[in-house]
Order: sequence, then structure tokens, then C-alpha cells
Amino acid sequence: MSYIKSALLDEKGYVILDQYDQAADPKEWHDLEYVDWKSSGVTRFAPLASAKGEIEVNGFWNHTPPRTDKDGVWIESQVAKAPHLVARAQEPGANVGRCRVIELQPNEYANTLYNLHQDDNNRLNPDGTGWIVRGFFNLTDDPESFMTLREDRFNPSTEVRIALPAGAQIIVDTQRFWHAVWHKGPEPRYCLITSWESGPELDAYIAKHNGTNDHENPYLDPKAIEDAQTEVQRRLAERAANLAARGKADAGPVDPEA
Ligand SMILES: [Fe+2]
Repeated sequence: MSYIKSALLDEKGYVILDQYDQAADPKEWHDLEYVDWKSSGVTRFAPLASAKGEIEVNGFWNHTPPRTDKDGVWIESQVAKAPHLVARAQEPGANVGRCRVIELQPNEYANTLYNLHQDDNNRLNPDGTGWIVRGFFNLTDDPESFMTLREDRFNPSTEVRIALPAGAQIIVDTQRFWHAVWHKGPEPRYCLITSWESGPELDAYIAKHNGTNDHENPYLDPKAIEDAQTEVQRRLAERAANLAARGKADAGPVDPEA
């Protein structure tokens, strides 16, 4: 047995769909209710579908009983405020797990590399069913910001940078890739993130919107990459030393969206 995966997504781990006409829709993300998550206090989320239909963003496996990232329960009060966003998440007809809008404050490239993490979307997902992947629909116009993906966390030659203008639509195997967004700002970035189950419905949706994994990275100065790599190593060493001083082991990066 093995998981059902989309051929295009399985090949490179991401698919870029046709750009959506975001300007034609109301800015529903401003109307939603947001919650802080984890320690940062900076990034906020507005859940549209959660484990039990409540306004919280915890991974479904952290609930009782624990379950995988499928069968999200739509949150009535949020759905009423964002019908366009919900319709877009439901368009593929694939099973939806977590669905939320993220609000991300501006950051630096070194922060992005430090924040790289892999999602845990397929925890408890039964073998033989569809692999959980995530859709990222950029809502604000951030053409100089990048979805940053790496097969190898510390190897910049594996990096994929995908620009995020309004209406950018990307589907990513976020359990495979180390990922984070480099958002240059100056305003917060908003993006609709949806967990979908791979299968024929998602394949048809990808085909309908001309999904492709042909992509050329925008240029980034090699010196900027090198400097950021060095800064990340410095921060990681500092973090490990701080933890060691308190007698704790470094458990590695924590998924900020878990
Ligand atoms: Fe993530």
C-alpha cells in the first residue's frame, strides 16, 4: 500500500495554478476573527475550518480523539464572513482538513531560513488514502515576497522561490518540503491555506487551472544567500547553547502552523 498522490505534485512537490483574479473579490480576510498561535505572538490565524468547528487552530492530532488533517468542521461565524474564500477552498471537492487565513508580518530572508519547517499533515493518515497537501492562495499583493521551499533544510541549491502577487495559487507538499514565506512587507501578508486530500478530485482541479511545476527561480544575490545561511547557523548555535545551559536538548524546529 502507499498513499494516493497527484503525479504533478509527486514529481517536484509543488504545483503552480493559474493566477486568480483576486481584485474582483471583497477583502473578506479583514472581517474574520483572528487568534494568536504559539509563542511568537506575531503571526495570527483566522480559522475557517477547524477540528471541531471552534475558532482555534490546533492540529487535529492534538484533539481528543486525535485524528489526521481531514474532515475539518466549518466555523459558521467565519464562513458567514468569507463566502468567497470558503468557495475557493471547496472548489476542488477534495476532503478539506484545516482551512485558515494566515496573517504574516514582514520578515527578513534570514528569518525565513530560520523558520523553515516541515508540516505534519499526514500524522495518523491511513496508508492507502490520499496524501494531505496544502493550497496557498495569496490574498494581498506581495510580488516581491516568496514562498520559500527547500528539499534540504540547509542546502540553498535545493531552494525554490515562488513569487506571491495577489491571486497566486500554489499547492505544496508541505510535509516533504522545508518551507516558510519571505515576506518583505511593508504591510502584513494574508494568505488562504487549505489542507486537501490528494485524489482524483484534486487532480481534476489542478488540470482545470492549468497546474504546472515549470518554474524558474527569481534571482537572489549569492552573497545575500551566504550571509543568511551564516546568520541561521549562528542563531541555531545560540539557541542550542541557551537550551543546553538550561539542561534541555534542542528538539529541532517547531511547526508554527501545527
Ligand atoms: Fe507549514
